[in-house]
Amino acid sequence: MKSVAPELGDMSKEDFRRLGHDLIDWIANYFDNINELPVLAAIEPGDLKAKLPTTAPVQGESMESIIADLDRLIVPALTHWSHPSFFAYFATSTSAPGIFGELLSAAFDNKAMLWRTSPASTELEEVVLDWLRQMMGLDRGMLGIIYDTASVSSLHAIAAAREGVEQRIREEGMSGRPDLPLLRVYVSEQSHSSIEKAVITLGLGQRGMRKIPTDSEFRMDAAALAAAIDEDKRNGYLPFCVVATVGTTSTSSIDPVPEIVPICEEHAMWLHVDAAYAGSAAIVPELRNILAGCERADSLVTNPHKWLFTPFDLSVLYCRHMDLLKRAFSLVPEYLRTPEQEKVRSGSDYGIQLGRRFRALKLWMVMRYFGHDGLTARIREHCRLARLFASWMAESPDWEVMAPVPLGLVCFRACPDGATGLDALNESIMHGVNASGRALLSHTRLNDKLTLRLSIGNIRTTEKHVRDVWELLNEQLRQSHKN
Ligand SMILES: Cc1ncc(COP(=O)(O)O)c(C=O)c1O
Repeated sequence: MKSVAPELGDMSKEDFRRLGHDLIDWIANYFDNINELPVLAAIEPGDLKAKLPTTAPVQGESMESIIADLDRLIVPALTHWSHPSFFAYFATSTSAPGIFGELLSAAFDNKAMLWRTSPASTELEEVVLDWLRQMMGLDRGMLGIIYDTASVSSLHAIAAAREGVEQRIREEGMSGRPDLPLLRVYVSEQSHSSIEKAVITLGLGQRGMRKIPTDSEFRMDAAALAAAIDEDKRNGYLPFCVVATVGTTSTSSIDPVPEIVPICEEHAMWLHVDAAYAGSAAIVPELRNILAGCERADSLVTNPHKWLFTPFDLSVLYCRHMDLLKRAFSLVPEYLRTPEQEKVRSGSDYGIQLGRRFRALKLWMVMRYFGHDGLTARIREHCRLARLFASWMAESPDWEVMAPVPLGLVCFRACPDGATGLDALNESIMHGVNASGRALLSHTRLNDKLTLRLSIGNIRTTEKHVRDVWELLNEQLRQSHKN
C-alpha cells in the first residue's frame, strides 16, 4: 500500500511512522555510501530542470515515488558537502545530533518572534549561547543571538554600530541629509565580501567602506588602519566601525586584534570581529589565543554551521551592546504586545526578521552529544591533518605552501622546477581533481598568484582522505605537466 495524502488532514500516523523510519534508513545509507559518490555534482547547468515537470502535480503523489525521485533526480544533482573529501571553500559538516535537532525543529515549527510564541527557543538560545561563550573563552559581557548566516550577523552588528553614532539615522534615514558626514567602516583587503554587502545594504555605499592593506601574512596592517582613520577624520568623515577578521576566507589569517583595539578605543569606534570560520577553534584550549583582544571587541560573529558540526544554518552574533541592537531593530505593533514583554527577551526585537527558526535546538543537541571534549578533539584533529598535509608540501620540490597554516586550511600551489605558466598549471590541476569526483578543492588569488585551498572541517574526514587527495594532486600534476 503506497502512502498518498488522505482527502483532508495530514499523512496518517501509521504512514508517518513507517516512512519516517525508512527515511532515517535512507539517510544512514546515504552516509554509508557517500564515499562512492562524486563530490562535485556531475551535471551540466539546466540538466535537473529539464527532468522536472514545469507545473505542480494536481493530484497528490505517493511518498514512495517522491523518495524514489530523491535517488533518481536530486542526489545526482547534489554537490556532497558531507563527503569526507570535500575540501573546498570552508569544509563543513552536519552531524547526527544536528540532523535530529533539525528534524525536531521542523516538527515543532515554532516561530520564535516573541518569548510567548516559543519560550523554549528563546530560553534555550540564551543558555546554549552562554555555554558556547564560555567554551570560546569570551567574557560575560558578550550576549549572543542566533541568525541564519554570518552575512546577516555582521549586517546586524554594523547596524547596531551605526545606531551608536547618535545621528538619528533610524528616524531620519541617510539620504538627503547635508548634515550627515560620510560614515566609514574599515576592513582589511582580505575581509569577506559579506561586510561590503552589509555596508551596501545599510545604505552606507561602497564609498563608506575603506580597505586597509595587509602584511606579508595577510593580516590587517594596524598602523595603516590608524593612518587611514586619521586621514578620514581630517577630511571630515565619520569613522565609526572596524571589522577585524579572525580566520580570513582566503588564508585563515588572523588580524592583530590586540593592536586594533586601542585604535578603536581612541576614536570611540565599534570593533566587530568576523570569526565566522575560526571562532569554533577557540574552544580548543591551545587555540584560544586566536581570540586575543576580543575581550575588548564590541561584537563578534561565529558560525557553528561552519566548524561545529551543526547543519546549516546557524550563525551566532555576540554583542556587548544589546541595547543598541534593540534600538536599531525593535518595532512592536499592537498585535505583538504581550504582558511579559518587559521581563523577557523577544528575538524579533534584535533583527529584521519577525519569525525565527528554533535553531538553538540543534546546537544544544550537538553540544550535549559531543561535549566540549568531543568537539575539541575533532577540531584539533582537523588542524593536525592540515599541518600534516602542509608538511608533505613543504618536503616536496614540486609544491609550495602559500600562507601560514594556523588552523585547518592549507593554501598551496604546484611549482615544479622549470615550469612556466603556473597559474594555468594550477588551474588545470584543480579542475582535474574536481572533475575526477574524488575530491573537491577551491582556489583564491594571493599576491596575484592563483592559489589552491584545501580546507579540512568535515566530521568524516580522516588521514586516509587527506593522503588520497595528496596522491590525486600529484597524479594531476604529472598529467598536467606532461600536456
Ligand atoms: C570570514 C567569513 N566571514 C563571513 C562569511 C560568510 O558566511 P555566511 O555564509 O554564513 O554568510 C564567510 C564564509 O565563508 C567567511 O569565511
